[in-house]
Amino acid sequence: MPDAPERRTARIFFALWPEAEVRGRLMRQGLKMHRLVGGKLTREESVHLTLVFLGDVAPERVPALQARAAAVRFAPFVLRVEQAGCWRHNGIGWVGPNQTPAALVGLVAGLEDALAGEGFLFDRRPYAAHITLLRKARCTPMEAKMSAIDWPVRDFVLVRSELNNEGSRYTIVERWKAQEEA
Ligand code: 2AM
Repeated sequence: MPDAPERRTARIFFALWPEAEVRGRLMRQGLKMHRLVGGKLTREESVHLTLVFLGDVAPERVPALQARAAAVRFAPFVLRVEQAGCWRHNGIGWVGPNQTPAALVGLVAGLEDALAGEGFLFDRRPYAAHITLLRKARCTPMEAKMSAIDWPVRDFVLVRSELNNEGSRYTIVERWKAQEEA
């Protein structure tokens, strides 16, 4: 049998990736929601918040992406995660901020502008900040309020996503820190 053709592209996105403490708290919230609406719980090492999703990108274009991202300036901020929800249309159980804070909107806009300057195309749908904790959930009504989790955001990452039998496997390609004076 001939070898399967080499996959020339990888799904790429920018994200916030929590440290262990916040990750643990998010997972505990995910477990609570799992008891209510079932589904498949996100693996602890995969918990993240997407900033900009680029989809399939040819490997030779990734260095340009990295160069553009390195020029994005933002100050550290705290993201308060205090709302839980479940989207019926796609069975996603999620948590997120009540309102997307200006600092997060600014970071997403800064990244989008930097990438557009390099000719990258991406989803320009209104940004819905969320952290997916469950997939294929039943999405029966559940309590939207949760104990707030304050996530100190000090950096963002570029992630490559590969599909395998167990779902997506994520690899952090590079990390960029916030500047104290953005
Ligand atoms: P999801 O968790 O709501 O599915 C890797 O797939 C990450 O990119 C996930 O956080 C996923 O969000 C997000 N993602 C996938 N497709 C996307 C799209 N078309 N637009 C925005 N985000 C997307």
